[in-house]
Amino acid sequence: MACELTGLGMYVPPRVLTNEDLEKFLDTSDEWITTRTGIKERRIAEEWEKASDLGYHAAKEAIENSGLSSKDIDVVIVATSTPDMIFPSTACFLADKLKCNKPMAFDISAACSGFIYGLTLARTFIAAGQAENILVVGSEVFSKIVDWNDRTTAVLFGDGAGAVVVSKTNNDKGILSAVMRSDGSHWGSLYCPVGEKIKMRGRETFKLAIKNMAEASMKALEEAGLTLDDIKLIIPHQANIRIIRALAEKLEIPEDKVFSNIHRYGNTSAASIPIAMYEAKEEGRFHEGDYILLTAFGGGLTWGAIVLRV
Ligand code: UT7
Repeated sequence: MACELTGLGMYVPPRVLTNEDLEKFLDTSDEWITTRTGIKERRIAEEWEKASDLGYHAAKEAIENSGLSSKDIDVVIVATSTPDMIFPSTACFLADKLKCNKPMAFDISAACSGFIYGLTLARTFIAAGQAENILVVGSEVFSKIVDWNDRTTAVLFGDGAGAVVVSKTNNDKGILSAVMRSDGSHWGSLYCPVGEKIKMRGRETFKLAIKNMAEASMKALEEAGLTLDDIKLIIPHQANIRIIRALAEKLEIPEDKVFSNIHRYGNTSAASIPIAMYEAKEEGRFHEGDYILLTAFGGGLTWGAIVLRV
C-alpha cells in the first residue's frame, strides 16, 4: 500500500530575534553570523509556549489542507528534541489539543533528522495496513535549551513547527524510498544532557553532515530507481548555508536546485524540513507530479534521505 502527503502546515512564533539583537548581548556580529551560517534572524517562542502549542497551529493547517478532520487521524507522531515534558509525549498533548479521536500518539527523538524518521515510520504503518491517515509534526522550542551566553550555539537555532498529513493512496505519488542511518559513536559532536543546555563541536558536525547527507541522498535515489536529473528540488535540513552549498557541490548540482530559507529561521531542528517544504511549495519551487528529495542530519548522530513524488 502506497502513501502520499495530502496536507502541509507550518507555524513560527511572531517574535523575531535578529543578528543585530544578538550583537547587543553576545560577543558576535551580523557579519560573522551571515558569512559563516547564512542566518539573518530567527523566531523565538513566548515563555509559556511549548512544542505542542507551535505544533498545534502547524498540524491544524495541515489537516485542513488535507481535507480531513482531526477525527480521521489514526496516528500522531511528533519529532522533537524539546518536548513539553519527558512524559507524557508531546504527541499526546498535541492529539488532545487537536481533539483527535484517541489515536496512537508518540514522540521521536532523532534530533534534526526526527521529521524524516517520522515520515519513514508513517510510510511503514500505512504499508502494513496499520493506519490510513498519519499526522507527522516537527516542532521545536530550541530557544529554551540554548545557552544564551554561548555564542558558538546561541546564534544558530530558532523555534518553529511544520506538519504533514500522510494518507493511504492508490496512485503513484508518495514516498518512494527512505534511507535512515545513525552512528552513536559520534554522540559527543552534538548533544544536550537532561536539564542542561546544547553542546556542539561545530566543525566535526559540519564535515559529517555533508558526507552523510550526500551518501544517503544517492542511496535513496538508487532505491527509488531515479537519478539526480529526475529530482526537481532537494530540500535539506537547514543548519548552515555553507553545508547546503557544499552538499550541492558534492552532488554536482546547481545551487538553485537546493532549497534554503535558513536566513529567516536559523536551524529549527526537526521542524526545519517541513517548514522548508511548506515554503518551497508556496514559492512554486515544485508542483504536483514532481520528484523531490529530503535529506537531514543531526545529533545522535542521525541522518537520512527520502525520495518522494508530490
Ligand atoms: O542541526 C544539525 C547539526 N548542526 C550543524 O550541522 C552545525 C554544523 N557546524 C556549523 O554550522 C559551523 O561549524 C558553525 C557555524 C557552528 C561554526 O562555523 P565554523 O566556520 O566551523 O567556525 P569555528 O567553530 O571554526 O570558529 C571560528 C572562529 C573561532 O574563533 P578563533 O578560535 O578562530 O579565534 C570561534 O571562537 O569563530 C569564533 N566564533 C564566533 N565569532 C563570532 C564562534 N562563534 C562565533 C560567533 N560570533 N557567534
